[in-house]
Amino acid sequence: MIAIACDHSALDMKKVIIELLDQMGLPYHDYGTYTADSCDYPVFAARAAGAVARGECEKGILICGTGIGMSIAANKVDGIRCALCSEPYSAKLTRMHNDSNVLALGARVIGPELARMIAQTWLETPFEGGRHQRRVDLLTALEKGEKME
Ligand code: RB5
Repeated sequence: MIAIACDHSALDMKKVIIELLDQMGLPYHDYGTYTADSCDYPVFAARAAGAVARGECEKGILICGTGIGMSIAANKVDGIRCALCSEPYSAKLTRMHNDSNVLALGARVIGPELARMIAQTWLETPFEGGRHQRRVDLLTALEKGEKME
C-alpha cells in the first residue's frame, strides 16, 4: 500500500501519480487534500507519513508546491526518511543508498512527465543494503537522540 498526499497546489500532480500507481498495479491510500481550498501541508504530510511509520503503508509520496514543506514535515516523523527529488538519478540513489520510504515532489518545480518518471524510478528501485544499512541505522540512532562520535 502506498500512502499519497498533497496540498492545494498539487492536486493535478497527485492525479498524475495516482494514474501511475494504477498502471503499476500498486494499491494506494489517498490522505488528501481533496479540494483546491488552501490548506496546511504539515497536516497532510503527517497523515501519510504517519501511516508509513506505523507500517500501514510500505511507502509514501507527498506533493506540495516546492516539495520542501512536505519533506521537512515528513522527516520530523520518527522512522521516516523522506527524499525530495527533482530528477530520476537522485530518486534511484535515494532508494539504493538511503532506503528512503517517502518521496517528496514539487508540483511548481517539475512537470508531470518528469514527476511520473521520478516516481516510477523511486518505486521500482530496491535498497542495496550492505554498507548502506549501517548508515541507515545511524540515521535511526540520530533520530533516537544518540550521540554521534
Ligand atoms: C503553498 O503555497 C506552498 O507553500 C506549499 O505548497 C509548499 O511549497 C511548501 O513548502
